[in-house]
Amino acid sequence: MAKFVPVDIFDLVIFGGAGDLALRKLMPALFHRDLDGQLPAGSRIISVGRSSLSRDEFLGMVCESLKKKLTESEYTSESWQSFSERLQYIEADALDISRWQGLKDALKGFEDRIRVFYLATAPSLFGAIATGLKQTGLINDEVRIVLEKPVGNDHASAREINDRVGECFAEDSIFRIDHYLGKETVQNLLALRFANSLFEPLWNRGNIDHVQITVAEDLGVGGRVEFYDQVGTLRDMVQNHMMQLLCLTAMEPPTNRDSNAVRDEKMKVLHALKPIGVAEVKRHTVRGQYQAGAIDGEAVDGYLDELGGKDSQTETFVALKLQIDNWRWSNVPFYLRTGKRLKQKYSEIIIQFQEVPHSIFPELTESHNANRLSIRLQPDEGVKLSLMLKDPGPGGFELRPVSLDLSFADASGARYPDAYERLLIEVIRGNPSLFMRRDEVEFAWEWIDEIIAGWEESQQPVEDYVAGTWGPTASSLMLDRDDRSWFPK
Ligand code: BG6
Repeated sequence: MAKFVPVDIFDLVIFGGAGDLALRKLMPALFHRDLDGQLPAGSRIISVGRSSLSRDEFLGMVCESLKKKLTESEYTSESWQSFSERLQYIEADALDISRWQGLKDALKGFEDRIRVFYLATAPSLFGAIATGLKQTGLINDEVRIVLEKPVGNDHASAREINDRVGECFAEDSIFRIDHYLGKETVQNLLALRFANSLFEPLWNRGNIDHVQITVAEDLGVGGRVEFYDQVGTLRDMVQNHMMQLLCLTAMEPPTNRDSNAVRDEKMKVLHALKPIGVAEVKRHTVRGQYQAGAIDGEAVDGYLDELGGKDSQTETFVALKLQIDNWRWSNVPFYLRTGKRLKQKYSEIIIQFQEVPHSIFPELTESHNANRLSIRLQPDEGVKLSLMLKDPGPGGFELRPVSLDLSFADASGARYPDAYERLLIEVIRGNPSLFMRRDEVEFAWEWIDEIIAGWEESQQPVEDYVAGTWGPTASSLMLDRDDRSWFPK
């Protein structure tokens, strides 16, 4: 287990501090870091929200949400005591700086310490809050500002946010979160590729047939349906998480782990992505929307039922076929799919290697599978390499697929920290390598905007799929056309 190195003393101010993200993700993450002794004594967590809450009411909300996430051995009266001492709640309207006196008072006299402003709010507030922080003189020399995803809703709005925030904060103090970058397996993808000499010579068009990236969720949109209907899966999942996974899988080896070295390589992948415009959307994209069905034997509603019976063409599933136009990946398709209410929560990157060039087992081709490297993000993180071996025994020569299976949890025996634990610590340390740079976000939006325009112009419909399946038939057909299929099907 890697050692925890304590960070320097800090104040963390969370705008949207009593909201869903703060309670469900940030507080448990900070609690765990506190439990492991990584937060120095005296460091404070100051939640800012619009609701009028007493400190006790706020602590009650935090306590309730922590209890849902923590085990009995983690949540004890001592650990809660230590954590809750750090917490403060301040009522303030993000858009009205004349009412920020409470926040100013709380930060007064603490100018020398690291100061993190975490904007867990709607992106439409990012610009106004950044400006407010500048106008109220709350930006110190050790400041960082964290922008939750999504940064905008399209290229134009992302630019506007970045411009406004950039007028108040230097780029190296702006941390744009994509929590997938903090996931253990995503980190391990870098280790796998660049700390081993085994894979690099194989990692190209000469050996790889195609790549699949699946991020499947069994949950529906639930309570977020009104918000989700304005956004859809392409913006919610592909523009950020899927693009990041794609970039880390496809990028060239960076010269070092410096944040800009890695991000420069990711940018090159984005630039090499072949645009999908109106002429390509029909063959290279699938949009889907879930109908009522069953997950794990339990009946679940369809998307439109959740929306209260309204009509909507918002997608809850997307499959894409991408082409990266460079020497390494020329003619190697990358298939991406992500959706809600699929069969199970499952995320995996699959590198499908080519068939052997000449088989000396022609009679066994039926059972033959080419090698496959699976990098599993969830539910059980790990790496699996599928090989063909001889079935043991004195009988006839039989081949069978066998997996070299490395489960990270089994291998390290450790609890898996949530992505936000790592990301929050990196923000406090001031290390931006796990965060998105302005150009990455904006370019990814440009690329996504083109697909959306293509869908609109061609009036590409959303295809139905039954909740609890792997998505619409059109998604399987897209791969069928190339004589390939999804894993799992
Ligand atoms: C969020 C999306 O960014 O990621 C959600 O807005 C999605 O719609 C979530 O459910 C998935 O994250 P994870 O870590 O559960 O795979």
